[in-house]
Amino acid sequence: ERFAKHYENKPGMKVGIRVNPGVGSGGFSKSTTSFSKTNVGGPSSSFGIWHELVDGPVKDIVEKYGLDVERIHTHIGSGSDPEIWQQVAKQSLSFCKIFKSVHSLNLGGGYKVGRVEGEKTTDLQEIGQPVADAFRTFAEEEGRELKMEIEPGTYLVAMAGALVTTVQDKVTTTGEGGHVFLKLDAGMTDVLRPSLYGAVHPITVLPSSGDVADVGSETEDVVVVGHCCESGDLMTPKPGEPEDLAERTLRQAAIGDLLIMDGSGAYCSGMSTKNYNSFPESPEVLVDREGKPHLIRKRQPLEQIFQNEVQLSSTSIFADPVGASEAA
Ligand SMILES: Cc1ncc(COP(=O)(O)O)c(C=O)c1O
Repeated sequence: ERFAKHYENKPGMKVGIRVNPGVGSGGFSKSTTSFSKTNVGGPSSSFGIWHELVDGPVKDIVEKYGLDVERIHTHIGSGSDPEIWQQVAKQSLSFCKIFKSVHSLNLGGGYKVGRVEGEKTTDLQEIGQPVADAFRTFAEEEGRELKMEIEPGTYLVAMAGALVTTVQDKVTTTGEGGHVFLKLDAGMTDVLRPSLYGAVHPITVLPSSGDVADVGSETEDVVVVGHCCESGDLMTPKPGEPEDLAERTLRQAAIGDLLIMDGSGAYCSGMSTKNYNSFPESPEVLVDREGKPHLIRKRQPLEQIFQNEVQLSSTSIFADPVGASEAA
């Protein structure tokens, strides 16, 4: 109602309604249906208007303010279970029946991309066919065709990016719970997904010489960690147990070797914890179809990190104790 009030004197205002369909899915913990940090549907999620309110309070508001609902939108989570996505897609059609003016149903994103062995990539044809049929049935029953919209963020770009880092240090602990750690010159500041979601990324170690002959065949079980002084700055969480660390068998690494984290095209640069611990933003390189590299983001100069800090002299602290004039 708060939103609709803006359009009090503008009947016919076109609006879309994001609905929380009551079911969500997505994430990296063993269950993708209960609470997880990438599940944005169901009772544990604050995204969208709760489905039970649509054919009631929402409809009343739409009528009261003369709004023109042209789109229904649902998005239940990133990396959602294909079966649940299908179920929600069909259920979402029922919200379109409530408003005769709706011409588009936006089903959001959430199409799984398998980054490592054992993770399955969603087959869009397989999940889309029954939903396309449901759209056709809707058209027959309602006498109007809906446009299907999707927002496949991850699906398009997840595998298009890789984080290139250097092994800065190797640390060994022994005894029960001991590990060999590879410490990188990057971390959650660049790819936050493992720390935030327990996401598992493919990792490859390459020799610093860049020479294939130096790759060798020795492997080592290691835990890979980032450069922040945080135990949560972990690049190898345990699959299905986001709070736990896991060893990964990698090519035996020496300090100075390169470590590549693949599958870093989505929710990595855009979701980086910029300037955390005063680390500058990483440079970005685009490799074109011919394999030619192009710098598309420069490494951030250190001065940019503190350029908005305001220096106070001891006299100004006393003259203007809360810095109010400066803030203004
Ligand atoms: C509304 C909406 N649509 C689409 C997406 C993209 O989801 P994904 O990248 O998992 O496909 C998101 C992700 O948060 C979203 O919030």
